[in-house]
Amino acid sequence: MKTYIVTGGAGFIGSNLARRLIKEGYKVYIIDDLSTGFLRNVPEGAMFCKADISDFKQLQMIELPDKIDCVFHLAAQSSGEASFDDPARDIDVNYKGTYNMLKLAEMKHSQRFIYTSSMSVYGEVTGMNIYIDETYNCTPISYYGSNKLASEQVISLYTRTSTIKATIFRLFNVYGPGQNMLNMKQGMASIYMSYIMNNEPILVKGSLERFRDFIHIDDVVDVLIHSEGCPETYGEIFNVGTGLKTTVSELLRVILRVYNKEEFDQWVICSGNTAGDVTGLIADNNKLRNALKWNAKVNIEEGIYKMKNWIDETMEWWRN
Ligand SMILES: NC(=O)c1ccc[n+]([C@@H]2O[C@H](COP(=O)([O-])OP(=O)(O)OC[C@H]3O[C@@H](n4cnc5c(N)ncnc54)[C@H](O)[C@@H]3O)[C@@H](O)[C@H]2O)c1
Repeated sequence: MKTYIVTGGAGFIGSNLARRLIKEGYKVYIIDDLSTGFLRNVPEGAMFCKADISDFKQLQMIELPDKIDCVFHLAAQSSGEASFDDPARDIDVNYKGTYNMLKLAEMKHSQRFIYTSSMSVYGEVTGMNIYIDETYNCTPISYYGSNKLASEQVISLYTRTSTIKATIFRLFNVYGPGQNMLNMKQGMASIYMSYIMNNEPILVKGSLERFRDFIHIDDVVDVLIHSEGCPETYGEIFNVGTGLKTTVSELLRVILRVYNKEEFDQWVICSGNTAGDVTGLIADNNKLRNALKWNAKVNIEEGIYKMKNWIDETMEWWRN
């Protein structure tokens, strides 16, 4: 049976990934400091290890088997906006934490290291073309984006002289069940749905004409799992998005429709801006589709509908 480490496994994407790996019969060790994640997210059957990835001594103290097949490194301070509150901590977690996890992966003879980077590495896109491929110039405009880019670079440097085969995924806007509905600084869909969950008008910080490439969590988990044993992804960087453009206004209309609240002007208030925010960019996902023979399956209407059902089911979590 293969054994995996999933860092950030008490968070949104990590817990969904760990749950699927366990369901498929693998052994999973989760490393998380619970700074933004929740113990209740940790799936049954996972070994949970509470540790801060920015502190290598804590990582060395975790009881792990001698051989790990793959490290899925997802733990992060995951908000561009919050990275301006404490840039030094962002460097510790998002950059040094990645270096520490590479060292741990090598100690545990891991052949694979899969890293969730972000579309934030690209920064603001200029020019007419909004469909961005992996060769596009990286000019991050948040500490978060800059530390994600630095992590990508340290991964490629480190793996040059080791036997670890790494794959880097630049995730676009991931949404779906498992998001933190109390975090108002990360996740556009979850932030807007939090307002509706509390029966309050949605505060939109920025233009309604901004746009994003929203990808459902199930599609992202498919990519992460299938890449593990796919040699075409070794040593490569991939955009992970649907390739489809959705404006903020379109997203809001889908959310309001799913909640049977059709009066847009009554439910949406636009005011201010968000630090480190961009107008928009869409994933050119050709490289990923060719390498993995993958296509996104969940459309935005269906995805938001599934998410609403999950929010309804977990309502008491968010009220206490
Ligand atoms: N959600 C998105 O749309 C999106 C987009 C692009 C990239 N990503 C990346 O995907 C990964 C997962 O994101 P997410 O949305 O699940 O975020 P999340 O905040 O829900 O999960 C991150 C997890 O990491 C843990 N963590 C934070 N600091 C830690 C530390 N020092 N030591 C150990 N654990 C720590 C948190 O407790 C949390 O459980 C992150 O690397 C994020 O940057 C996410």
